[in-house]
Amino acid sequence: MATFSTETKVPFSLDPYHVSADLGFVLQAPLQELPEYYQPWMDIAFQVSDLVQSHTLRSHIDKMPLLSVEYLKSHRELRLAHLALSAMTMGYVWQEGEDGTIERLPRTLAVPFWEVSGCLGLPPILTHADAVLANWKKKDADGNLELLVTLPGGDSVRGFFMVTLLVELAAVPALRSIPAVVNGVRQGDGEAVASALEVLQQSLQDMTDTLKLMHVFVEPSIFYGIMRIYLSGWKDNPSMPHGLVYEGVEPEPVQLSGGSAAQSSLLHCFDQLLGVQHEAKSGHFLHRMRDYMLPAHRRLIQDLSREPSLRDFVQGARAGDARLSRAFQLCVTRLVALRSDHINMVSRFISVPAGRARQLRSQGHTAGGALSRAPVALEERGTGGSGIMTFLKTVRDRTRDARLPGSSGVLRDQGPGWDEDSQ
Ligand code: HEM
Repeated sequence: MATFSTETKVPFSLDPYHVSADLGFVLQAPLQELPEYYQPWMDIAFQVSDLVQSHTLRSHIDKMPLLSVEYLKSHRELRLAHLALSAMTMGYVWQEGEDGTIERLPRTLAVPFWEVSGCLGLPPILTHADAVLANWKKKDADGNLELLVTLPGGDSVRGFFMVTLLVELAAVPALRSIPAVVNGVRQGDGEAVASALEVLQQSLQDMTDTLKLMHVFVEPSIFYGIMRIYLSGWKDNPSMPHGLVYEGVEPEPVQLSGGSAAQSSLLHCFDQLLGVQHEAKSGHFLHRMRDYMLPAHRRLIQDLSREPSLRDFVQGARAGDARLSRAFQLCVTRLVALRSDHINMVSRFISVPAGRARQLRSQGHTAGGALSRAPVALEERGTGGSGIMTFLKTVRDRTRDARLPGSSGVLRDQGPGWDEDSQ
């Protein structure tokens, strides 16, 4: 964020950024069908998981007609088309596992996928904006949710995308409080900023509580042994060292990262707001993940970075304003705790199964459970291709540095969980 100034502007609002008051970054009422003309896509997209399992997805896609994208008119039609084409693409590339990859995506898939991606400003690969934000429908009148499009991994895939969606929804009050923070800082209104930060810290706590549901609904061996490869991309991936040629579009292979919640705009916004400064390498990766977000959401993060600094405001206006500094410190503490819980989750869903899979391989077990057949190429490397834990811990530790100096005592009475970042 820039330095504090009192210049008057139009009040900051989330309206220009396609963020809804009810659902935040989540797409409202995603469509479940495209116009009839696109039925050849949807027939395959709704069955990707089964067709991969029967090793027939590639042959179905190879026989697909080349369809024009000109009948896709609305944003929601484009989002469903991107979701459908991206699921087909992940299935096509990874159908035969890491040793049976392809170098070219056939033109019947590549050309429309490239064009739809261009219309939306998204890359032609499965992103968080597809698999989570635009991939839900109401299952029944009670409001229970279901995925639109799924990938191999059964209930664990459903759990993985649904819990991530619930984390997005738990963050909605935090998102809604951003304009009050920004406008309060602009106007020098410490009371308004403190109230908004109190909402924000509670929402961060709710996100952390919701994240824990991953342990209930996702089986680590299924995540690691079966699902993870279908989220993998073709950048820094030893299984596809050259990337992927999109036939009929580009003669040169393209390198793209796979789907990850690092592409969710939530933590990018909170980092900007709270003044978290990431270290160069991890900051570069996180910045690159913005290319995998919708342009309007990316713009929100950029615009927040141009606002007067909240942290400077809290420090400067702070003398005697214990409520304001306490609310700010709590927000940072909650964000650190969220990242610590996420690190624990990554350990349980990646590091531990990776160790077990290595052990099974060294003992010569190649048949049986999901882990004995787990892909080896990515092991403990993340979407960015580097060591996951080092990256995640550096990001968490830089978050901790955003705390105001010399006021940790303000948090002592927060009870269990206020300092969960001590690992
Ligand atoms: C089984 C569940 C999950 C696993 C195994 C997992 C794994 C990972 C990995 C390996 C990374 C490193 C970067 C990359 O490879 O893309 C990462 C980053 C990240 N993940 Fe997750 N993740 C999970 C769930 C979630 C959920 C539900 C969220 C919240 C929406 C989330 C938010 C993030 C964020 C924001 C980053 C970027 C680093 C940061 O800002 O701290 N992850 N995750």
